Amino acid sequence: MADKFYITTPLYYVNASPHIGHSYTNIAADCLARYMRRNLGDKNVWFLTGTDEHGQKMQKAAQDAGLAPQEFADKMVLQFKGLWGKLNISYNDFIRTTEERHIKIVQKVLDILYKKGDIYQAKYEGWYCTPCETFWTGTQIQDQICPDCKRPLEKISETNYFFRLSKYQPWLVDYINSHADFIKPQSRRVEMLSFLKLNQLTDLCISRPKERLSWGIPLPFSPQHVTYVWFDALINYISAVGEFDSKDKYNSVWWPADLHLIGKDILRQHAIYWPIMLHALDIEPPKTIFAHGWWLIAETKMSKSRGNVVSPLEMVDKFGIDVYRYFLLRDVPFGLDGNFSEEAIIKRFNDDLANDLGNLVYRTLTMIEKYFQGSIPQLEIDKIQFDNKGNDIKEKLKILSIYEVRTELRTDFNFSSALEKIWDFINMANKYIEDTKPWNLLKDKKENELKAFICLLAEVIRRVAFNLAPFMPATAESILEQIGKEKIKKGKPLFPRIDNLEAKT
Ligand code: MSP
Repeated sequence: MADKFYITTPLYYVNASPHIGHSYTNIAADCLARYMRRNLGDKNVWFLTGTDEHGQKMQKAAQDAGLAPQEFADKMVLQFKGLWGKLNISYNDFIRTTEERHIKIVQKVLDILYKKGDIYQAKYEGWYCTPCETFWTGTQIQDQICPDCKRPLEKISETNYFFRLSKYQPWLVDYINSHADFIKPQSRRVEMLSFLKLNQLTDLCISRPKERLSWGIPLPFSPQHVTYVWFDALINYISAVGEFDSKDKYNSVWWPADLHLIGKDILRQHAIYWPIMLHALDIEPPKTIFAHGWWLIAETKMSKSRGNVVSPLEMVDKFGIDVYRYFLLRDVPFGLDGNFSEEAIIKRFNDDLANDLGNLVYRTLTMIEKYFQGSIPQLEIDKIQFDNKGNDIKEKLKILSIYEVRTELRTDFNFSSALEKIWDFINMANKYIEDTKPWNLLKDKKENELKAFICLLAEVIRRVAFNLAPFMPATAESILEQIGKEKIKKGKPLFPRIDNLEAKT
């Protein structure tokens, strides 16, 4: 396919309800997918999300809920789909790891790698962390405590299957070094390279004996074992969009993925295990893996055990869908951690949305209503000579979407600074109104100037709405509907200020 864009999100564990961290990745992916659809056409963009439904955590959560794992997953998946519907997430496909189309490809991958000798059987003795589903060797741990989650480890000894990660370490280091865009942002690339420099990779244990874990995909060459949940889940990125042929060659019109969006905590699985798995299968790695930061609550990570998990639905009910989307994409540069609080949302709401954007739209519509009875003067902006400020705006109209927003989004995935560029423009227009003082133009009978001025502002608003559409789809639509082409349809102010939260709820 000539120019296409295949974007993915992680597959979310369905052992608990979705929280704001999950919604962050999907809103970011949705914004990019919408933006790219506009550039490449709908049929050249594929946006995949879904759920990770196997493994110990799921088995345990289902048990606690008194349900069979599949029944539990079927119930939980509805919460994720419901949330994505509410947040306007325009995914093209939703994959569940318990679907047949996925299981079939996972077993095929296992079969190919086993035949090739990249998966082998060995006796495993070591320490296991059940909540993290991670094995540790004696030298990696202290006091029998998990180095990641600090919970007690279990000593185990069993026969398992291993994937030869170690064999491919030199290839991976070369690959990362020679592909500057493979891991982003740059700080994460450096982190992975230094990890690989300091550590000799050990082969990855990719099976669990059935007596310890029954909820997983059976290994085709050893039905007594199920597949390790990470090895299973990563394969979704290819199982959703392609097939292996009779010569074990993978075919897909979408692969390689253009972008895997993930959180920083799952970078190692994506930047180490996954490219090595693909390389062993003779499949090209994804073009870019971007790891974003975390949303923290009062500087600490959200977690069920701390009881500080924020529900996206609650935030949307309080502030509205597009306000929530705007806040997440605007408040923190993509890649860094941010502090989530309702006070911070209210500040963004009042400053950026009510004062800047809402005000620009409302006062312009009011002027059109007052001075031109709701009809927008129809002039060709290109042919008009404005004063300096007007000319600056005219110039900016030309570059805003084709250059400024594009660079920020397509090259750097920097939502926050793309929005900043749009806001610079909004503020420029607000300042233009204040400096021009249109009521004086009317008083001095400068009707042509007034017409040109209004015409320019209407165009600015249309352009702002166009650029905002991937970030705030419903708001953009409502602005475009209100401003119209010839006749306006003025509605209520888009974002009435929040003076106290009670007033809004
Ligand atoms: N199932 C695995 C992913 C498999 S991908 C083949 C998983 N699931 S998860 O539900 O635990 O996490 C999914 C994503 O949510 C991760 O990218 C993680 O970084 C992100 N977040 C979880 N908490 C977060 C915040 N507090 N803030 C931002 N994102 C965070 O891992």
